[in-house]
Amino acid sequence: MIKKTFKDIDVTGKKVFVRVDFNVPQDETGKITDDTRIRAALPTINYLVKQNAKVILCSHLGRPKGVVNEKYSLAPIAERLSELINMKVKMAKDVIGSSAKGLVAEMKEGEIVLLENVRFHAEEEANDEAFAKELASLADVFVNDAFGVAHRAHASNAGIARYIPAVAGFLMDSELIALSNAVNNAEKPLVVILGGAKVSDKINVISSLMSRANTLLIGGAMANTFLVAKGYNIGFSKFEEDRIDVAKSIMEQAESLNVKLVLPVDVVAGNSFAPTAKRKNFTIDKIASDYQALDIGKKTRKLFEKEIKKAKTIIWNGPMGVFEFKKFRKGTLAVAKAVAKSGAVSIVGGGDSVAAIQELGFANKVTHLSTGGGATLKFLEGATLPGVAMLEDKDAPSKTKKSPDFSKIDNKTIAKNSVKKATVSAKPKENAKTTVPSKKVEPKTASLKATTTAKTSASSKTTTASKKSATTKSKTNK
Ligand code: 3PG
Repeated sequence: MIKKTFKDIDVTGKKVFVRVDFNVPQDETGKITDDTRIRAALPTINYLVKQNAKVILCSHLGRPKGVVNEKYSLAPIAERLSELINMKVKMAKDVIGSSAKGLVAEMKEGEIVLLENVRFHAEEEANDEAFAKELASLADVFVNDAFGVAHRAHASNAGIARYIPAVAGFLMDSELIALSNAVNNAEKPLVVILGGAKVSDKINVISSLMSRANTLLIGGAMANTFLVAKGYNIGFSKFEEDRIDVAKSIMEQAESLNVKLVLPVDVVAGNSFAPTAKRKNFTIDKIASDYQALDIGKKTRKLFEKEIKKAKTIIWNGPMGVFEFKKFRKGTLAVAKAVAKSGAVSIVGGGDSVAAIQELGFANKVTHLSTGGGATLKFLEGATLPGVAMLEDKDAPSKTKKSPDFSKIDNKTIAKNSVKKATVSAKPKENAKTTVPSKKVEPKTASLKATTTAKTSASSKTTTASKKSATTKSKTNK
């Protein structure tokens, strides 16, 4: 069900509580190392400012576990936001205390106040009713723009919606529509690319997408468990011993559903898990016992590129190797390049996959870069996102639009491309066609699949294969 957005209601002159996800990476000194999530919230904030709303921003940062900890203060974020938005952002010293209430009481139309880290209160993660009510009492309307945290049922993104009108912001709306269209209205062939460390993190995504995908490309350390399941000796590469049966059943399922499941045929391996490790290429039937797979190999890159070229829709989540080690990021960068050049409708989620696209300067060649980590995976699993479920429903059809390159958004860009242009229209014209660069998207009504139970994958043990002796040799992939 599509949700109402901030454009469906009158916010003029109102106090609007905007939940954003400003949980951005910082270095040891507190310096923000990637401000994508702050930029991604600008279209909503700017729109509200232009409507003369009083904009009360609320976010978490890190996991301070319900206690005040300066390390997790949002002060550096207020500063960065002020620079990006080119106007003063007042920072409250607390969330529901006298500082917050005082600043909100004094607010003039078009002003912005950022509350302190909402996770300084244990009641936030407990989704405490009284706390949610207190948050709601600060405002007239609730706008949820924090897609990144939508998979959590917390007071500031779910509980608050019980007390004041609750609608989606621009970012939330565009995330939901892009992901929903890719899952439910994908033009075929749909190629799903999954990587990352663990099969256990992605089992539910695989199960959910298996019946829709034509091709499943698996890389990263999670591919190792599949290779072991096929009987390969993978040196001392990491794999999940307790997920071998799961990997086998995924391969069987793929075969019975006629889904082309492609695994690496060669790897780039290191003699230790370190950025300085000695690097060697091996075909998967010849991985040396003192090496571990840390990236997909050259032949696999070509194989994956070939499959990506055939796609009309691509969903990619997770790196092909250890992206943080320069020597082992070629596979992820090759996939990023292939996805960006494919001309397909492409949805990319997960920190490293998004970073690879941005590093190559291809953000504007991808249909949608998701700001969610866990939230994107939960969405792809088909799980209910509490931060979405609580928002008011809207029954109008909507369409996927090319999302902006968040790394480039600043106030100048927004002034040039007005929010209206960058935003998914709240009242789309019937049968209107939405065009994205080099690719047409079929405008169909996005429907969020809302299952009542969010499946959680059981924790799983990652092990190395040093002692694993394989019997089966040299199998080829489909
Ligand atoms: C994220 O970074 O994925 C979101 O901000 C959610 O953070 P959390 O995992 O600490 O809830």
